[in-house]
Amino acid sequence: MAITLPTLTPVEDSLLLTLYCKALDSRLPKPLLSDAMADEIVRKLDYDFEQFKVNNNFLRNVALRSKKMDEVASAFIRHHPDAVGLDLGAGLDTRVFRLAPPATVDWYDVDFPAVIDVRKRVVPDRENVHVIGADVTDPNWLNTVPSDRPAVIVADGLMGFLTKDDFVSLLNRLIDHFPTGEMAFNSYTPFAVWATTVVRGTKSVSGMLKFPGVDDPRELESWIPKLKLVREILLAREPEISDYPTAVRLANRFMATSVALSRKGTIVLHFRF
Ligand SMILES: C[S@@+](CC[C@H](N)C(=O)[O-])C[C@H]1O[C@@H](n2cnc3c(N)ncnc32)[C@H](O)[C@@H]1O
Repeated sequence: MAITLPTLTPVEDSLLLTLYCKALDSRLPKPLLSDAMADEIVRKLDYDFEQFKVNNNFLRNVALRSKKMDEVASAFIRHHPDAVGLDLGAGLDTRVFRLAPPATVDWYDVDFPAVIDVRKRVVPDRENVHVIGADVTDPNWLNTVPSDRPAVIVADGLMGFLTKDDFVSLLNRLIDHFPTGEMAFNSYTPFAVWATTVVRGTKSVSGMLKFPGVDDPRELESWIPKLKLVREILLAREPEISDYPTAVRLANRFMATSVALSRKGTIVLHFRF
């Protein structure tokens, strides 16, 4: 029987858009993320996903940005089998199943309590995977997370919902908590924040965005000096674009001709600390 969702806040609701994009990606002939579990969850929920009217470019970018964060997390776990992994603003994403880390890794999915309640109902349990129902801007939730192991932290679709001050405080708390680690999250330029107001797939979240956007990822290093940029991953320049449909591929190829243009698209930032 289909599962009815509780009333979620608009910010919490945004997880359904990204979940749906991942489900749609898995139905493509050549998926980028291949997250069949996302599709299983979508099919279990009594929810009108069609209302999002997601376009092909948007769903691919959501899937590809997740894939890039998965790559960062996988590589980190390969080198640090004793790692702690965190997915901040995890929603109903099944990243830990995609990564399939060894049992020596403890993984934490963090989101608001109402989301975690839904998550417990629709995402299967897995050994050494923990959930934390909390507002990530609350300083106390990290107390239950081990602080003596290297950490890999992903935040997929979260940053836009945080003010600059909340974002900086959160990252400083994370950096102070762990001895060392890496993080990956999708970032927004001021242009991208504006673009959410006009792109069909993102209009539903545009009014909730609090982050002002950054044009250059090095700005983040000046806000948070312990953060060192490993790589600015400009999706327009990634090899997977060659499998995009012709018009979108050509648009991305054009953007890829310069960093400034590529930054108009989706960006994943990979930092170490
Ligand atoms: C766009 S969704 C992305 C969900 C998931 N990461 C994905 O890729 O499918 C953003 C998520 O961030 C969560 N979120 C936003 N602000 C948050 C906060 N302050 N504390 C905890 N979770 C937050 C929302 O509840 C939502 O699940």
